[in-house]
Amino acid sequence: MNSKRTILLGVNIDHAATLRQARYRGVHQSIHAEPSPVSFARESLLAGADGITVHLREDRRHIQEEDVYAIAQLPGVRLNLEMACTAEMVVFAKKLKPAAVCLVPESREEVTTEGGLDVVKQFARVKETVQALKAAGCEVSLFIEANAQQIEAAHSTGAPVVELHTGAFANAWKTPAADKEFERLRLGCEKAKQLGLIVNAGHGINYDNIKKIITLPHLNELNIGHTIVSRALMIGVRPAVAEMKAHIS
Ligand code: PXP
Repeated sequence: MNSKRTILLGVNIDHAATLRQARYRGVHQSIHAEPSPVSFARESLLAGADGITVHLREDRRHIQEEDVYAIAQLPGVRLNLEMACTAEMVVFAKKLKPAAVCLVPESREEVTTEGGLDVVKQFARVKETVQALKAAGCEVSLFIEANAQQIEAAHSTGAPVVELHTGAFANAWKTPAADKEFERLRLGCEKAKQLGLIVNAGHGINYDNIKKIITLPHLNELNIGHTIVSRALMIGVRPAVAEMKAHIS
């Protein structure tokens, strides 16, 4: 139905840095430190990525501040900074001024971002962060579950974009629960669009479930990381990114 729309591809390169940090934690500036997440980003852009996404985590487990500054300098890059709603990160984002910021929940214990931001519960703090980042010229997105109350609350913060969390659908893929999770996402996309929000999605998307994900309505951009970095290990960065790009455009 709508699988031939142009959907933008944001490549999340955090796991190129995860691999580097596995060997070079604390000495990531060493000339031997590899792989370079900056080179991964450059190659992704050359292969047709529409944007580069990085999550500068509080524990700095993968991407480092100097990586983010170097990626921001790449020609033609549209940088999307994922960050927690903290005063420290707001200061960093105001200095960096990325084109886009996606506010995500963060806890040190999680392996990756495990749930959506609870905008309903943390409304005042999220709204204040959204307004500060908008004033700095960033397009602000909120990473939330496809849930009507969260979408309405996200809209009330003044954020122009939501990124719907596709993790539960990805986990349910090829199980009987997948249809229900897909329907939840579909309703979320419709709700967000009705409110005039731009609809992005991400988390757990891979080269297989992407075929279903792209049939969601109103998608503007998909942010995809783990599967692309994994495939890049097998076939190289440019073919891995180009293959995903071919699925979505
Ligand atoms: N979008 C957001 C907000 C995320 O936190 C992540 C994971 O860092 C992704 C997208 C990408 O998820 P994955 O690595 O599973 O593709």
